[in-house]
Amino acid sequence: MTTTHSIDLLVYPDDCDSHGHLSSPSLLQLFERALWEAVARGSGLRVGDSRVSLTIRKATLDRYESANAGDVVTVETALTHIAESTFTLQQRVRHTKNEAMIAEGDFLVACIDQNGDAVDVPETITRLFGARPSMRPGETQTLAVRGNAVAVDIHGDGSPILFVHGFPLDRTVWKHLIATLNGWKRIAPDLRGMGLSEVPEDGYAISEYADDMIALLDTLHLEQTVVCGLSMGGYVALDLIRRYPDRVGALILINTRSGADDDPTREGREEMISLIEREGTEGLSDLMIGRLLGESSLAAMPQVVDHLGTMICRTPTAGAVGALRAMRDRRDAADILGGIQVPTLVVAGMNDRLIPLRTARTLADQIPGAQFTQIPEAGHLTPLEQPIALSRVVREFLEALS
Ligand code: MLT
Repeated sequence: MTTTHSIDLLVYPDDCDSHGHLSSPSLLQLFERALWEAVARGSGLRVGDSRVSLTIRKATLDRYESANAGDVVTVETALTHIAESTFTLQQRVRHTKNEAMIAEGDFLVACIDQNGDAVDVPETITRLFGARPSMRPGETQTLAVRGNAVAVDIHGDGSPILFVHGFPLDRTVWKHLIATLNGWKRIAPDLRGMGLSEVPEDGYAISEYADDMIALLDTLHLEQTVVCGLSMGGYVALDLIRRYPDRVGALILINTRSGADDDPTREGREEMISLIEREGTEGLSDLMIGRLLGESSLAAMPQVVDHLGTMICRTPTAGAVGALRAMRDRRDAADILGGIQVPTLVVAGMNDRLIPLRTARTLADQIPGAQFTQIPEAGHLTPLEQPIALSRVVREFLEALS
């Protein structure tokens, strides 16, 4: 049995701070209230049962939008992991009227008795959620694409946007955009050889990644989509518009370029391949983190540094080597830029060490009518480093399309 509980709650005036916004302590209380409501209504655990206390041992919280007194919000609760005396809940709170995500959190809950000793997870919890972890809302699916298993997150309804990640990353780099762009069908796959997708022995080329994306859209019965590519994902997006122009309704090119590798860059790719063959992708982590993130993110965003390190280390060696060869051998896309006829947004990070601002600006200048936006305090990974600013720019661009 897989269950996600969903409960609508009202934001009271005393849940709000002096500016009238739902305060952080009250947000945590809403999550807690939703759990107790689910428990009390669902499996009959007496609220205040003195034999077992449920104590939050670890919490991570992402906030996206504000809520005000009088707003009705929907809190979804899913059990994502269960052990002997602990379990993990994922909770999301959205505006009920338009599904906009207000916040999401993961909570590790410990079960203890009156003496503070660990006790088994009460049966009421397993009765409520099922003995096995339930689907996270919008959980990752695996689809067969050109003979390979491709992991993909698909959220929401509306016109589709395909998000193509960079190197050595995976679909989770889009988590903030995915959470906030309600009103659109957000599709974020892992490219072959990366994230949770299958790692075939061969077929690593920018055009192969692009063919995979078209096959994925075919599987999802989507004729045309907005394509949003980050860095290497931008190389894939440009290949898509070159070879499948009818399938691309608009382009969003983030921290990327159109040019092919020059000789020193190709040599750098070879050195990186040797490093990965010697040390695995763990060996790549320190080197890449310093290059990918802007200085302010490195200093002040430990959660982004952690997330990036995790993505790099879990990238399969063969997939990382394949991607480096794909980038090394990619063709120059400058010849197609002048012929791009779809609305295009080019986004640059002002502190991007890999793609200088002037390179991104030149890309925008060469695409007729392209909009160019530079984001302060962002390095090469704007979707992780400045998610709110990026989300706003992307939303404005998308709204202007419709
Ligand atoms: C990426 O972020 O996808 C890559 O670093 C791009 C590149 O190395 O050309």
